[in-house]
Formats: sequence, C-alpha cells, structure tokens
Amino acid sequence: MDLFNYKNETLFCEELPIPEIAEKIGTPFYLYSKNTLLRHYRKLDESLAGIDHIICYAIKANPSLGICKLLADAGAGADVVSGGELRRALQVGIPPEKIVFNGNGKTAEELRAGLDADILMFNVDSESELLLLEKIAGEMGRRARVSLRVNPDIDPQTHPYISTGLKKNKFGVSIDNALELYKEAAMMPNIDVVGIHKHIGSQITKLSPFVDSMERILALRDELDRSGIDIGYIDMGGGIGITYDDEHPPTFEEYVNAVRPLIGGSDRTLIIEPGRVLIGNAGILVTKVLHVKKTPEKNFIVVDAAMNDLIRPSIYNAYHRIIPVKSRSEQNDVITADVVGGICESTDFFAKGRELPAVKPGELIAIMSAGAYGSAMSSNYNSRPLIAEALVDGAELKTIRRRQSYEEMVSLESF
Ligand code: LLP
Repeated sequence: MDLFNYKNETLFCEELPIPEIAEKIGTPFYLYSKNTLLRHYRKLDESLAGIDHIICYAIKANPSLGICKLLADAGAGADVVSGGELRRALQVGIPPEKIVFNGNGKTAEELRAGLDADILMFNVDSESELLLLEKIAGEMGRRARVSLRVNPDIDPQTHPYISTGLKKNKFGVSIDNALELYKEAAMMPNIDVVGIHKHIGSQITKLSPFVDSMERILALRDELDRSGIDIGYIDMGGGIGITYDDEHPPTFEEYVNAVRPLIGGSDRTLIIEPGRVLIGNAGILVTKVLHVKKTPEKNFIVVDAAMNDLIRPSIYNAYHRIIPVKSRSEQNDVITADVVGGICESTDFFAKGRELPAVKPGELIAIMSAGAYGSAMSSNYNSRPLIAEALVDGAELKTIRRRQSYEEMVSLESF
C-alpha cells in the first residue's frame, strides 16, 4: 500500500503532483511519502497487539534523519550497526532503552559508545566480541546487557547476497555452540545475559523460514531456561519482504499470527527489526530522461540518476518498477529498452529489456519501491554529488537532505 497515484494522468505523491516537486528541487531526487511510512509502522504495531514488543527500525535501510525522526516520534526503537547509526538514533530522540546494537565487526570505540549511551542491548556476534565487551564494560565500571546473535542455519529463500542465517554465512554464533557461549557469558562479571537474537536474511517473502528459525531459537531458550539462564528478550531480526514486482509477501497479520503461538503466553519481550517493509514502498527515485538511443541491438533510455544513486539493480539484479510521471492515453506507444544511467560501467542500469511508454528526453520517470537501501547505499562514484531527498506530508513538501554541492563533495580532500 502506498500513496503514489495518478490523478489526471499525472503521478502524485500524496496530494502533490511530482512535476511540481521536480520543478522546485531539480532531478534526480528521492521522494518519500510520510503517511505511507507511518501507515506501515502503525499496521505492524497494531498487528503485534497483545505481545509485549519493541519495533526497532533498522536504520541501515534508510538512515536519513528526516525518516528516522518520523519513526522516533511514532514510538519506534532502533537497530543500529555502527557508531554513526547510534548517533543518528540518539539525535532524533530514540530512547536508549529501545536501541539494539547489531553487527559482526563492532569496534572498541563503538562498544564504548553503546555502553556510554546505556542502550538496551548488544547483539553479540562472536566470543571475541563478547570478551572485548566484558573488558571494556569492566574498564568503564558498567554492565553490558547482551544477547547472542544465534545463527539458526535456516535458508531464507532469498537472494544469496542478502541471506545471513546459514552455517556458511559470516554472521552469529552457530546454534550448536550457542549454549556453551551463553554459559561463559553468564559467568562474566560485567555482562548481563538478557536475550537471544537471530536475523536470517532480507526480502523474505515466505513464512516458513521465519517460523522454522523461531522454533530453533525458542528450543534454545528452553535449554537456557533449564540451565538457569533467564532470557527476557527474543529478538527475531528483520527481513520481511515487500512487493517490488509480483511477489506476495505475507501481510503483517499473517506474519504475526504465524509466530504468535510460538511466543504467546511467555513473559518475554519480542523485538523485531524491520527496515525495508517500513520504508521500501514509501519512497521513489524521480529521474529525468536525458537521451533515447537506438543501437542496432537495443534501445536505451539514458536517465540523470545512475547506479551511484540506486545500486540494487546492479548488485542484486533487483527489479524496480519504472513508470512515467505523465501517463499516456495511447497504450500502443511503447518501447522496449534498457533504462541506464550515465556512469562508465555496463552494470549501471535500472532495468533491462523493459517495456515502457515511449518516453522522450526531458520527461520524468519514477523508479518505484526505492525507499529502502536506495539512498542508504548511494555513493559519489564518478564524482556525482549525492542527490536531494524530499518528504511529502499531504500537500506539504520538505527537503530532508539537500543536494550535495561540488565543494562539499571534495571538502575532505587536499592536494
Ligand atoms: N536486522 C539485521 C541484523 C540486519 O542485518 C538487517 C538487514 C535488518 C535487521 C533489516 O532487514 P530488512 O527488514 O530491511 O530486510 N542491501 C540489501 C539488503 C541488506 C540487508 C542487510 N541487513 C538490499 O538492498 O536488498
């Protein structure tokens, strides 16, 4: 469900026509619908009714302060994976007691920052990290609340690059060794063992991987109970998929109903770390057609955004729907083309062999479902400045990140 719709053949974001926005801020730009985002958050929150829970927004999906602030005000917590994300979470007012710190490469400095902020818990990825955290907490005279990230060895049936919960992946402690490490942690003077964490992958569109991995995690919890280690938090990670094309991911109700019997009745708090499912379909990338080029082999639509702005098609072969900002009445005016950016790489594409209305230079097109891992993964490759990000609330437009200038792009450099 999103609030990007045509009215009189023009694409609107909520109540604002996109050509008007493009006129104001210039292309290319990311555009977010505040009410789509908040609707997703509230629906998820409502479907978790009756379960003691914290929704920790995965900041990596879209770290823009303007986006994080909306979720903070709606009551969300945060999943952070770096000192930078921790600072973003605190800056927008997310309470430390709703922040979990993930990641398999936390530095001493980052562990210190988390302890300093007194966050809810560290999801510890290895024995090595646990030992470092114990040492640093001791030095600081603090106690660190800890979950172990457990790798349940479940295939999430998604793209291999975004699978994380298989034995061969780099993440977490193998479920077979977890009990041992829990016992070790429980003996450490500066560690409080408070939870279990798992995250098996992203863009998961089936229920079974969630249910299977939860069953494994809860079996471990029972073992911990028997060993006298009391776990208050079950953190089931993120990963709920969205519709990019014709996927049919579970609804929030289906998702929660599938795991509710597993956790129901317990006095534990459930933590969930959604990223994509909140912001993915609440954002689009608006870009202008620069050239239409016909070669003997193919047609190319060259646009002013490129892989540095949205890299998902290039690295995951990800599908994003592409639609013209002005729709056409004549349906037969179509072209089959690759939609590409202006970067010097053949992998710089948004779509291949896509059938589209026969757009002309100067026309605007929208690359849909770009709110998650879009701007978040952008770069300055080919010395292209970071593009603007704007937020629509009804008929109001707000720039939440202005376009980077050339001077800002080179400001850290010297010669
Ligand atoms: N929790 C942990 C520990 C994670 O590693 C992730 C995502 C999330 C939560 C949020 O997952 P989500 O609900 O958004 O699926 N760049 C890739 C996605 C990488 C996901 C990394 N971890 C993409 O563009 O598809």
